[in-house]
Amino acid sequence: MSETLTDFKDQVVVISGAAQGIGLAAAKLIHGRGGQVVLLDVLVEKLQHVKVELSLEADQVHQIDVGDPESVRNTIAEIEKCYGQIHALINTAGIVGPTNVGTELIDWTDFERTVRINLFGTIWLTQAVLPLMKEKKYGRIVHVTSIAGKEGNPGMSPYNTSKSGMIGFVKGVAKEVAPLGITVNALAPAVISTPMNANTSDETLKYMISRIPMGRVGEAEEVAEMLAFIASKACSYTTGFTFDTSGGRATY
Ligand SMILES: NC(=O)c1ccc[n+]([C@@H]2O[C@H](COP(=O)([O-])OP(=O)(O)OC[C@H]3O[C@@H](n4cnc5c(N)ncnc54)[C@H](O)[C@@H]3O)[C@@H](O)[C@H]2O)c1
Repeated sequence: MSETLTDFKDQVVVISGAAQGIGLAAAKLIHGRGGQVVLLDVLVEKLQHVKVELSLEADQVHQIDVGDPESVRNTIAEIEKCYGQIHALINTAGIVGPTNVGTELIDWTDFERTVRINLFGTIWLTQAVLPLMKEKKYGRIVHVTSIAGKEGNPGMSPYNTSKSGMIGFVKGVAKEVAPLGITVNALAPAVISTPMNANTSDETLKYMISRIPMGRVGEAEEVAEMLAFIASKACSYTTGFTFDTSGGRATY
């Protein structure tokens, strides 16, 4: 049988933020395509549910705080020791941070925490996986950013800053490692139906949907399809790019 480039047979795929939402959808899809998924999240109870649901081994789920560099380094080192290689990293862990708050009024602790988890987490995860990927001369890194990183949402300075920082980070690192068989890309969704939006008011959702030509929010499974492609062998000649999944809201 010929190899299907979008399959993940014999590949170790680390997914952060995998206890729910987009990360969970990606975990299920890639698990279904034969990948050895290793799931990371702060929500340990939810992770345990996923472990049971997907019949995973104990070393396929790890509690982690991506906002803590030591937690990131130790977890990645443990996974590398256990599996010998990480073929792909899909980083979906993230928080929204303060919303509807004027920039000058944002509490600095909240600002810093949002940037720390979303942007520094991205950097620390990348730093942790790169050495072995370089040694193995293969790797796929995908970070989930946001339309907010491209266009900016009013009242959400920390989130905008972190997500646009991710886009810039990806561009430069991708060029550094491009000759080494490693790709580094981002994916920018608009509004996706996940627990992150569970408390978004109907009014705000209506406004957001009005800006989406497809006239609806996206589903986590639709984002997972994109993530699986970018993290697969099939996505071999694109790096440093921020893919779009916004129902036509962004066309760049
Ligand atoms: N849902 C949307 O509309 C939307 C739109 C654009 C971008 N995004 C981005 O997509 C990604 C996934 O979001 P989602 O919608 O699935 O949200 P979600 O809240 O359902 O899932 C995010 C996951 O990240 C985990 N997480 C948060 N902080 C963490 C930390 N410090 N360490 C480890 N894990 C942590 C959470 O526990 C959760 O399981 C996020 O980066 C988000 O910014 C989401």
